[in-house]
Amino acid sequence: MKHVALYPGSFDPITFGHLDILERATNLFDKVIVTVAVNKEKSAVFTGEERLALIHECLEGKSWAKNITVNKFTGLLVNHAQKLKADTLIRGVRQISDFEYEFRMALTNKRLAPDVDTVFLMPDEEFTFISASLVKEIAYWGGDLTSFVPDNVAEALKSKYGNK
Ligand code: PNS
Repeated sequence: MKHVALYPGSFDPITFGHLDILERATNLFDKVIVTVAVNKEKSAVFTGEERLALIHECLEGKSWAKNITVNKFTGLLVNHAQKLKADTLIRGVRQISDFEYEFRMALTNKRLAPDVDTVFLMPDEEFTFISASLVKEIAYWGGDLTSFVPDNVAEALKSKYGNK
């Protein structure tokens, strides 16, 4: 049986941490679909389309990314998963503090769709503290983004925030 995994998130914006989880997922599943949640579009810095474009750019030329597709969704994640015939949801867990929220979300999704399982993956140690919200704060104050996000994302953040 072919296993299709959905990797959902806000990806506002995608970071090196997300890319690390994504690469790991490609080693475990036949097909991985990155899906950008656009439910709270108004509170995001990047539009859904911008987030998709940044992800596409980050994956360009990566040998491990050939079985990855990218899309976006609104509404309930499990409905999107079932529509795409994905049997697994991937979530990255960086530290214990992530786990309570992730555990609640996984159990909720399991109750809504018992046929869809959540798999938690750990990123490499060097990415355990990176989050999109920290990255946005660094960008806001004009800090160095080199070790947090790929160059295209850093450029996009710079043009969003300008030079503070
Ligand atoms: O990157 P994030 O913001 O931690 O991702 C959270 C996300 C988008 C995966 C989660 O909020 C979600 O699945 N939203 C869609 C609505 C939904 O299905 N909610 C029920 C699951 S608790």
